[in-house]
Amino acid sequence: MRKKIAAANWKMNLTFQQGKDLVNGILVSDLNLKQNQQVVICPAFPYLVGIKELIGEREGFYLGAQNCASEKSGAYTGEISPEMLQSVGVTYAIIGHSERREYYGETNEILKKKILLALEYGLKPLFCCGEPLDIREKNAHNAFVEQQLKESLFDLTENEMNSVVIAYEPIWAIGTGRTATPDQAQEMHAFIRAQIVDRYGTSVAEETSILYGGSCKPDNAEELFNCPDVDGALIGGASLKAESFSAIASCLR
Ligand code: PGA
Repeated sequence: MRKKIAAANWKMNLTFQQGKDLVNGILVSDLNLKQNQQVVICPAFPYLVGIKELIGEREGFYLGAQNCASEKSGAYTGEISPEMLQSVGVTYAIIGHSERREYYGETNEILKKKILLALEYGLKPLFCCGEPLDIREKNAHNAFVEQQLKESLFDLTENEMNSVVIAYEPIWAIGTGRTATPDQAQEMHAFIRAQIVDRYGTSVAEETSILYGGSCKPDNAEELFNCPDVDGALIGGASLKAESFSAIASCLR
């Protein structure tokens, strides 16, 4: 059975102390994770080691980075390599978040390099895709997302693809309070899964977790997670409070 995941993307928020308090708040909340359910905490890079210590061996809790470098090592001032992340106990790396694409010029081609390097060092890419508002309004969102998948993911081997988690994040719903309706989310998630079926076959597609991202909140998580192809969420704003993040995670099915 594929994994159901609540992933917290803190973005560039919180001090170290605030981050530790937040994780402690989540740890003491009564989250009864089932065997196929995971919580992934993606703090800023400097906090990874400290947050890892707090999480310890807690069942179902994993650490994620918000980005990783596209090069192995060397003279790349300010970059953090997949090998470095792996060496401090990171499991996931968010790759291709729309904010990275938009503000830091990350193209499908660069993201493909990052994905391959992350996989080489045993990280699981949490690959983000999703369309901006004008593309949605032109009804061209399926073709847009299909191209993102083809150009960044679909050269992977079947074995590599088994380690990838996808997050569908309609850009018009990120941080805007505007959420895709469950029908819109389900339609796109089913479309993404159909693309994986075409490329890798049913068994890989059925095992691939596809998360929803874009103003996921305690009051819409349940109906989103009830959609058959929505396997959890990548959560920004609502992941910054233990109460709201735990409430969302407790809706995982
Ligand atoms: P949001 O962010 O939940 O604040 O919309 C989601 C994301 O960008 O991962």
